[in-house]
Order: sequence, then structure tokens, then C-alpha cells
Amino acid sequence: MNILLTGGAGYIGSHTYVALVEAGFTPVILDNFANSHPRVLERLQAITGKPVLCERGDVLDTPFVEQVLRRHAVGGVVHFAGDKAVGESVAKPLKYYRNNLGGAVSLMQAMEAAGCDTLVFSSSATVYGDPASVPIREDFPRSHTNPYGHTKLVIEDMLAAQQVAQPAWKVATLRYFNPVGAHPSGLIGEDPAGIPNNLMPYIAQVATGQRPFLQVFGSDYPTPDGTGVRDYIHVCDLAEGHVAALRTLIESGRSLTVNLGTGSGHSVLEVVRAFEAASGRPVPYQQVARRPGDVAQCYADPALAQRLLGWRATRTLAQMCEDAWRWQSANPNGYRDAGEAVSR
Ligand code: WQD
Repeated sequence: MNILLTGGAGYIGSHTYVALVEAGFTPVILDNFANSHPRVLERLQAITGKPVLCERGDVLDTPFVEQVLRRHAVGGVVHFAGDKAVGESVAKPLKYYRNNLGGAVSLMQAMEAAGCDTLVFSSSATVYGDPASVPIREDFPRSHTNPYGHTKLVIEDMLAAQQVAQPAWKVATLRYFNPVGAHPSGLIGEDPAGIPNNLMPYIAQVATGQRPFLQVFGSDYPTPDGTGVRDYIHVCDLAEGHVAALRTLIESGRSLTVNLGTGSGHSVLEVVRAFEAASGRPVPYQQVARRPGDVAQCYADPALAQRLLGWRATRTLAQMCEDAWRWQSANPNGYRDAGEAVSR
């Protein structure tokens, strides 16, 4: 079955591309490369040994998306395309509402026009806001603390409304916790533009010497060592979770919403130590004030995904750090040539 990956050239999308090929699907990438690099396509061919089908364009271009769906006889869509920087969304909310909400509406309209009714959506644990307790179950209340999280929450509601209007639609909403790591080949990985917002890519750049030290945001949280606790999940586990969700939709026809996490929480300092062990490099850090909007703890109850998808994360924090280190040390500039400007 041909599967369209919107934003498929990105971090999660590219790893899901590999997992889909390995599972016998034929993925087609749709990407405008606003937040990804075309070099990922040659890397994907190197990993899979097959030519990569890619349609360059914007998910907001509804007629274009419909043409792509028809041209490739797409049987299902995995929707990754969108902006995802929490801080940027506070500074530029209209960009996020236009790209994320507009993109989702445009995609669903194109799917309706082309007769495609199977959709996997990249949601986020950010829809839980500041959870009252952990581990987090899917029936926990949702809230948002920033425009990025708001777009994920609203898209979930748009998908629910579409399923009421079109009961034949099959939708899997996947709430990611903290994706980290890279494909073990070291050929694809996380390639943040500019200064990394997220912990793991920042630590990796400290380990390579690209940055002098890590700022640890907060040392007074109600956690074992005072630093923030998160549910880090290997991006390859996450990718395999997408394949399991797609298979479940196709085989059962039942829509679902599940957490994709490990169920284990690790503190910032635990991740620092794990990365030092994996890389053999020191990761100097300074403990500074909390980052506004951060929560103390956020980790999943992964039971529902295991029950509905027959899937669970298996890779350890050590493997996440080893694979992230292999990618970063082999690609210190990500997919860009040394000296190539960051285009986004
Ligand atoms: C993890 C921990 C920080 C950087 C965000 C989004 C979420 C999802 C994943 C898209 C926290 C600490 C971080 C640093 C630090 N993105 N930290 N120094 O904030 O849990 O989640 O990314 O879907 O929607 O909210 O991830 O990696 O930014 O932070 O101390 O330089 O590391 O305080 O405790 P977060 P993160």
C-alpha cells in the first residue's frame, strides 16, 4: 500500500519512512523542505536500497495534495508536516495557526476529494498541559500552555469532528512524548536549525565541542534530583509505533488515540550522565533558573498502545544516547555541508 508522509523529510518522518519500507509499505514523501534538508532523500535511499518517491510542495496547497494522493493511489496518510517549536509559537502564533491548523484542514479536504480515508496524526504529550499526576493516561484532561500545543489540541478536535461527519474515516492520533536518538546507521537523525531547543540535540552539540556547556533549566523541581523528568523514546521505536498504528487502522477499521512513550521518566542529569557514558565525552553544565512553561514531570502510561497496537518501546536510554552520538559525531552540521547557511 502507498502511504503519503507529509513532512516526511523531517526527523520523525524520515525514520518512519524507513520503518514503513521495512514493513513492506511504499511511502511517498510530501515536503516543502521549510524545516528539513533534501539531502535526507539520498540518505534514505542509502538505508533502504530503494529510490525515494518525493513530491516537493506545501501541504497548504490543497489541489497539489489532491493530485499527489491520486497520482500515487495513496491508501493512507501519516501527517507530520507542521511547525513544532514551543518558544517560536509564542512569538509567532499566526505562523503556527496558519501552518498547523491550515495544513491539517487542507490535507483533510484533499483526502476527501481524492477518496482517501485513513490518517495517522502526529500529536504530542503537550496536549496534556501540566498533568495533575504521572504516569499520564489518554483519558487525562487536555489543556494548552502555548500556541504550538493549542494547534495539536485543536487538530485532534478537528479529526474527531471529521470522524462524526465521515464515519468511514479511520484515524489514529499518536501523542508523542520526547523523541530522541537516531537510526543506528548514523545516516539520518535530528537536525535542528540554529540553537537546539530540545535537550538531547543540545547535549550532543556540547559533547562534540560545538557548544561550551549545557544550561540545566531548574534544579528545584519536586523530582529525585531537582531537574525535569521526561519520557524519552527512541525515534526508531516511535517510527515502529506509526507502522503498528497504520496496520491497526487498516486491519481493524477502528480509530484510536494513544500515547507513544516508554512509561519511564528520566531527569535531565540522568540524560547527561547517560550521554557521557555513551560518547565517552564530558558534558559540562550549569544549573540555571527554570524555563518558563516547563513542567516538573511528564511521562506516559503506555498500556493502551500496547493493548490496541500490540506495540511497545524497547530501546533503552543508553541506546538512545549511543545512536544520537553516532549521528551527531558523524554529522556535526546535520545534513548541511560545512559552512552551508542554515536556510530555515
Ligand atoms: C526536556 C527537559 C527541560 C533543554 C518539548 C515540547 C514537546 C515536544 C518535545 C514537539 C526539560 C530540560 C532542555 C536545555 C534543559 N516537541 N532542558 N536544557 O520541553 O519536554 O518537550 O519537546 O512535539 O511538545 O514541549 O523537551 O527537550 O525541550 O526539554 O535543561 O537546553 O530538558 O527543562 O526538563 P520538552 P525539551
